[in-house]
Amino acid sequence: MDLFEVLKKRHSIRKYTGESIREEDLEKVIQAGLISAASRGIRPWQLTVIKNKEILAKMPGARTGGANMLAGADACIIVSADPDACDVWIEDCSIVMSNMHLMAHSLGLGSCWIQGRLRLSADGRTTEEYLDELVGLPQGHKLLAMLSLGMPAEEKSETDLADLRYDKVRIVE
Ligand SMILES: Cc1cc2nc3c(=O)[nH]c(=O)nc-3n(C[C@H](O)[C@H](O)[C@H](O)COP(=O)(O)O)c2cc1C
Repeated sequence: MDLFEVLKKRHSIRKYTGESIREEDLEKVIQAGLISAASRGIRPWQLTVIKNKEILAKMPGARTGGANMLAGADACIIVSADPDACDVWIEDCSIVMSNMHLMAHSLGLGSCWIQGRLRLSADGRTTEEYLDELVGLPQGHKLLAMLSLGMPAEEKSETDLADLRYDKVRIVE
């Protein structure tokens, strides 16, 4: 699919059929993340891939809301980074998330960005602390976000270019 088509059709998908996603597709999503541009080429991130359904069932507890889809997902990729390795780790990890989300869509998978940084778990800890206990984040890493993945059980319409907010664009000539 042409990149602009992917961008127009991309949406956050939070409902999944329960079918497994193909191993080679998960691999391509991971590769799309690892391939990302990074400040000074440092690539301070780590991707923690969760396929274990018992762990996935516990993952909605990582957030007070906004993460329930993880219980029905086939996989989840947690993106974290060592903030001491790169001062712009948030930007770096955001590109990883975005690339993986777009790759997932282009492969016919459903995915959704689930915010982790600055968020709390249902039990009052930070989302990061909750996940660290559940899956063990790499030593010294800060959590950025999680990407849920599954076969889509909902369809969303293509963005109509006529709806784009051109009032957010300022051209200086
Ligand atoms: C930084 C960021 C954080 C987000 N956090 C969540 C989240 O925690 N839970 C969720 O369901 N969706 C989350 N989303 C998805 C947005 O809600 C979604 O992109 C937005 O509603 C627009 O819908 P669309 O992605 O289908 O175009 C997040 C998206 C971004 C970029």
